Amino acid sequence: MHLDLLFDFLRFPSVSTDPARKGAVASCADWLRSRLAEIGLDAAIHPTEGHPVVLARNEHRPGRRTVLIYGHYDVQPEDPVAEWTSKPFEPELRNGVIYARGATDNKGQILAHILGVAETLKAKGELPVNLIFLIEGEEEIGSTHLEAFLAEHKSELQCDVIAVSDTGMVAPGVPTFTYGLRGIAALELRVAGPKTDLHSGIYGGAVMNPATALARLLATLHTADGQVAIPGFYEKVRPLEAWERESWSKLPCDDEMILSVTGAPALFGEAGYTSLERLWGRPTAEVNGIGGGFQGVGTKTVLPREAFAKLTFRLVPDQTPDEVLDGVSAHLRAASPAAVGLEIQRGHGGEPYITDPHSEFGKAAQRALVRAFPGKDVALIREGGSIPIINTFKRVLGVDTLLLGLALPDCAAHGPNENFPVANFEAGILLNQTLLEELARTA
Ligand code: BES
Ligand code: MN
Repeated sequence: MHLDLLFDFLRFPSVSTDPARKGAVASCADWLRSRLAEIGLDAAIHPTEGHPVVLARNEHRPGRRTVLIYGHYDVQPEDPVAEWTSKPFEPELRNGVIYARGATDNKGQILAHILGVAETLKAKGELPVNLIFLIEGEEEIGSTHLEAFLAEHKSELQCDVIAVSDTGMVAPGVPTFTYGLRGIAALELRVAGPKTDLHSGIYGGAVMNPATALARLLATLHTADGQVAIPGFYEKVRPLEAWERESWSKLPCDDEMILSVTGAPALFGEAGYTSLERLWGRPTAEVNGIGGGFQGVGTKTVLPREAFAKLTFRLVPDQTPDEVLDGVSAHLRAASPAAVGLEIQRGHGGEPYITDPHSEFGKAAQRALVRAFPGKDVALIREGGSIPIINTFKRVLGVDTLLLGLALPDCAAHGPNENFPVANFEAGILLNQTLLEELARTA
């Protein structure tokens, strides 16, 4: 029954970045609204300039905590499609694991919260808190229109605390509380050369090759030992605290695990930091895509007229997307050879987030985690991934977020064969119930 619902949810190809999928994204929002209404919540679709927001609430009563649960129903593109064992939008259960795009990120996790609420309503007729569900369709493209939506619906969205399951667990069965996220800043660059592709024999040597120029430019982003070489990049970076380094070093999550999950031949990163410190507490510059020139079979002696790269930077407190992109753009312009043109286009940004894991709500969330995963200590971590709206919640609504993720290290989010174990789905349904109970107890 629970699985049937999740499978229906997963069948929508709600890829937010793809204009051809706009209809599928909207249908997915409608489906979600119907499910929320069906369990007795007051649910509505709110169109935005981008994809719709789905809001739902129970009847709010004075004297109770108000909890907002956030999630997203949009997903990343399914490619490379050929590398999937089963089709990305035809969910399949194999050995207790659900395979589909969005299984973990974030449909399985947000639906677990909805079903937890449904269970409580079925058993008790009411919830222990005032509840708001805010489920958006643009998380995977930077939550572009959500900040304006928050500002516009500020009074309706007033709450004491926000809860989100869209982060990871350090290992199967280990309850994990995330108190920090990296931010993100995106940028595309295009290196422009001659007005058209040229014969590389006739003109090669006298006209600068844009692909070569791009390679030189990208090579200036890092030092050979893995530091980002952009002037000022680390200026605002808050150093890791001693207790974090100490406690992360004891987590059941080591380099062996990262090597085996990723299949990388070796690990590599900034000198002076462990892998977890590099992932959770240090900023990065990444090339996400690079192109230009002949990509077909065989050779083609061409001097391409342009080359491009897509970059994102992962940020940590107290870096901001705008400041980082200013620094990056200035650096790239200064480093770009005079014999080519350079076009820089800024993309989406999201601020990094950090909160106190020992706040009253933090402690309540950790009690809820222990109840949902009995007999295990809670791992306190930061995450390398970004959820762009989380720090905006803090800025616009003035509210902290509890990050209670259910994703496993090998969930393959964003990749082929994304998956979510049924056990995590069921644990998530239970976690929602223990969480609302524990948060109610803080009132
Ligand atoms: N759920 C992830 C973020 C995440 C992943 C947090 C793993 C912690 C661990 C989220 O859906 C996501 O992928 N966000 C994007 C945001 C970006 C596209 C603006 C990300 O981090 O790349
Ligand atoms: Mn994602």
